[in-house]
Amino acid sequence: MTDLYAVIGNPVAQTKSPRIHAEFARQLKQDLRYEAILAPHDGFAAAVAVFRAAGGKGLNVTLPFKLEAFALATERSDRAEQAGAVNTLKFDDATILGDNTDGAGLVGDIQDRLRYAIRGKRVLIMGAGGAARGVVLPLLRCEPASIAIANRTVEKALALERRFAPFGPVEGGAYARLSGRQFDLVINATSASLSGELPPLPPGVFAPGALAYDMVYGSELTRFLAYAQDNGAEQVADGLGMLLAQAAESFFLWRGVRPDTAPMIELLRRG
Ligand code: ATR
Repeated sequence: MTDLYAVIGNPVAQTKSPRIHAEFARQLKQDLRYEAILAPHDGFAAAVAVFRAAGGKGLNVTLPFKLEAFALATERSDRAEQAGAVNTLKFDDATILGDNTDGAGLVGDIQDRLRYAIRGKRVLIMGAGGAARGVVLPLLRCEPASIAIANRTVEKALALERRFAPFGPVEGGAYARLSGRQFDLVINATSASLSGELPPLPPGVFAPGALAYDMVYGSELTRFLAYAQDNGAEQVADGLGMLLAQAAESFFLWRGVRPDTAPMIELLRRG
């Protein structure tokens, strides 16, 4: 029987995940169907229950439900536990396994595809929601010189600092505190790009040679990446490569076989 999977989020109309997973399935001769589910902001758990009752085997979870997915899981992988957020659910008869493939996807995309070594670099993460939480520890494992986390709601950045400081040099704070400082790798983990907004970065944060990375992707450069290009970043990348890399990790969790993502990025970029 054809197994059923989906991505669940809000918004979800622009997602490329169904296309990616259909291509993975074709590549690896897997019999599955993959859909997109738009869940109301207050209806995540109910939408998951309906999907499961219809025979759904697994979900990718995107904005803004990664923390709710964490709470819903009855078992969690170590990396989901450490992130405190879940982007992949796998259903069995009695259990809901929660995993987090975002960190592996981001680090893989930056180091393997973009060939940008994180070791020794000054890293800035903007945002302190589920997307940010999922990538702090995988980034720390790459031994950067430091990680600064900036957020509009300062308390959330400080909470991430408390959570991750035992594992490496992490500090949280307000955007204003970045004034006069420079970073080699600036990662936008906010949802600002989805509404065409720009996080309130002070001028001059991009060090010479800096890579600006937006975890969001779109058909055009995001507002943050356009700003980065105009303000001294040497290289900019959107989250399409991360999307592909984390999708491959999810596919592996569900199906036990690993897709080859290398040929797919240009294909997706073309539409
Ligand atoms: P996700 O799970 O994808 O991280 P989230 O938990 O809703 O989604 O978090 C969204 C993040 O984007 C938050 O850090 C949010 O900042 P606040 O905590 O201050 O709300 C950030 N964000 C959203 N819009 C933003 C904007 N226009 N400027 C700066 N930060 C923004």
